[in-house]
Amino acid sequence: MSGPAYLRRILIVGSGAREHALALALHEHELVIAPGNGGTAQVGRNVDVAVNDVPGLVALAERERIDLVVIGPEAPLTLGLVDALAERSIAAFGPSRAAARLEGSKAFMKDFLRRHDIPTAAFAVFDDAEEAKAHVRAAGRPLVVKADGLCAGKGVVVSSSAEEALDAIERMMVAREFGEAGATVVIEELLPGEEASFHVVCDGTRAVALVAAQDHKRVFDGDRGPNTGGMGAYAPAPIVTEAVHAEVMRAVVGPTLRGMAAEGAPFRGVLFVGLMIDNGTPRVLEFNVRFGDPETTVLVPMLDGDWFELLDGSARGDLGGFTAGTKPGAALAVVMAAEHYPAKPTTGDRIDGLDRAIRAGAFVLHAGTRLDGDAVVTSGGRVLTVGAYASSLAAARGLAYEAVSGITWRGEHHRADIGHRALAR
Ligand SMILES: Nc1ncnc2c1ncn2[C@@H]1O[C@H](COP(=O)(O)OP(=O)(O)O)[C@@H](O)[C@H]1O
Ligand SMILES: [Mg+2]
Repeated sequence: MSGPAYLRRILIVGSGAREHALALALHEHELVIAPGNGGTAQVGRNVDVAVNDVPGLVALAERERIDLVVIGPEAPLTLGLVDALAERSIAAFGPSRAAARLEGSKAFMKDFLRRHDIPTAAFAVFDDAEEAKAHVRAAGRPLVVKADGLCAGKGVVVSSSAEEALDAIERMMVAREFGEAGATVVIEELLPGEEASFHVVCDGTRAVALVAAQDHKRVFDGDRGPNTGGMGAYAPAPIVTEAVHAEVMRAVVGPTLRGMAAEGAPFRGVLFVGLMIDNGTPRVLEFNVRFGDPETTVLVPMLDGDWFELLDGSARGDLGGFTAGTKPGAALAVVMAAEHYPAKPTTGDRIDGLDRAIRAGAFVLHAGTRLDGDAVVTSGGRVLTVGAYASSLAAARGLAYEAVSGITWRGEHHRADIGHRALAR
């Protein structure tokens, strides 16, 4: 290895704005990104290995003499990438395959919450469609139907009638719209309240909490229209008061880390707790075992600490010496999407105005982009995440939208109301 002693060789797995944000957080080191995007190509070296290609990623890490692998998306975690790397003694940020079941199987996750008395919506698990339908008919009230396995955010139906819930069961369990992921379903009670994204970086026993964030899942202003991967985010989320934060650590994070360790799958990596908060009481909607996207784009500028030490400490199972805090102020980020996203996004459009936005003090994170000579062109549905860190949420919003307004391509659309819940308070 060349360079100063602190310089590490890091492989980042993924291709979204989340991975570009992590790349910028780790930019002092030597970065390889697989497969990366048009933005990560400007901070490190992209290598075209797919995120699901576990043997290919292990071979890449060995060939590049990587010190730390940072895994963005959930799929390689549930496929056992961390375990495969550990067999070659390569450190990786993320949970083992066994610990990744907290996201990979909603039935496992819900049973785990019940075993450890962690607050969540009441539920039942079914692997028989007729029994699931009988449960819905007997309930006589709106319920939430969730496919057990990974469905890229499309496997949950919050029903407003029994018919809708029955239809969801039919599509998931009988028509197998999501393949094996829908063979088992979780049916749960509808929880009232407001959602928040609570991330803790864990080393198996200890947890470092990051600032709470909120995202915006619907495509249109006012939280209307179809669900997306996320159209924007901000932090801090005022709904997560100090009391709520303390309660999440006491009633959710503590028992989860102790429970996973006791069950032989200690949790390392980042646990993203999806919360529903009602009158100051937090309940778990779901766990993700990786950073949120878009949340990461606002978590990165808000951390007052060293990202390498945080991720490496987690990977090595020792966050004991890690100290960090949250910066004052706020960060807000807006997703700029391609025409017809989320249905069938158009790609191949040339993006203009990127330099202007960066000059204005905003951050511009790439997701669905690729370099075409000197030009940056669109290559996916969520194209860019453009945001800012400032002394207040209103100021961050002003800077972010100023930058957004300078970036253009044919068919671009974004939400104009990111942060509306917090700003209305
Ligand atoms: N029990 C529930 N009560 C109310 N809304 C819910 C409930 N479960 C899920 N939702 C809504 O559905 C969304 C997706 O559910 P979630 O469990 O996070 O699954 P995934 O992110 O894997 O699709 C949540 O962000 C929330 O808006
Ligand atoms: Mg979710």
